[in-house]
Amino acid sequence: MDWGFANRLSRTIRPDGRCFYLAVDHGYFQGPTHRLENPGKTTEPLMKYVDAVFMPRGSVRATLNPQMDIPLILRVSGGNSMVGEDLANEEVSVSIREMIRLNAAAVGISVYVGSKYEHQTIMALAKLVDDCTDYGIPVMAVTAVGREEDKKSARYLALASRVCAEQGAAVVKTYYCDDFDKVVAGCPVPVVIAGGPRTENDLEVIQFVYDGLQQGAIGVNLGRNIWQNECPEGMARALQMVIHENASPKEAFEVFESMKAAMPKAG
Ligand code: R5P
Repeated sequence: MDWGFANRLSRTIRPDGRCFYLAVDHGYFQGPTHRLENPGKTTEPLMKYVDAVFMPRGSVRATLNPQMDIPLILRVSGGNSMVGEDLANEEVSVSIREMIRLNAAAVGISVYVGSKYEHQTIMALAKLVDDCTDYGIPVMAVTAVGREEDKKSARYLALASRVCAEQGAAVVKTYYCDDFDKVVAGCPVPVVIAGGPRTENDLEVIQFVYDGLQQGAIGVNLGRNIWQNECPEGMARALQMVIHENASPKEAFEVFESMKAAMPKAG
């Protein structure tokens, strides 16, 4: 492994082998998602809990302080939107020069295995890995399912994760599911857990992250279940405890509850 690649990777995977990425990339296809109207403002209080921020270049330039002391994972695929014809119709939308200019510690791309755009998105990943390897930039592949929620099964996610790993992804981001250990076992590179829509129950989030880590994931890339929570800092702190401090879900949830209780009351 080249020094630059190893150095960038070590900034996004901590010495304990774990990672906590904050996903704030949703605007690239969802528009101004609730609580992500200003991604920089949403991200700022959470910086102290996470290891990296996953963001597209528009939000980075417009809303992130360049003096921030935290690695950027740049979202580099796009070309689709919630109101468009097909969410899977993505390509690489950022040049390699731009990735370097923005000082990306890593980049992220969505791959839609089993969709109409499977070939296009797998080849986009392969080309991105080639280009990024020339400059020592690790690539995180996202096993994207678009609106096809039924794809979140171990059988599908294991296949999609393996396909991404074989094209050279340094890290694969995929969903937690039943039999998640089989997804991890079949993927020769580290796996991070994706989030999904906000859950009703706060303990559920902490628990699925804990379970995923027990089954071999190295960390998370989570968004809505943190910054759409009533107490984003409490949830970020709780997840940091589970990821980096070997806390049990119960211990982490207690801290979440106490931070939530200490929040200033609205009105
Ligand atoms: C994935 O491709 C999305 O753009 C998000 O990065 C990912 O889904 C994680 O965010 P959330 O936890 O809100 O699902």
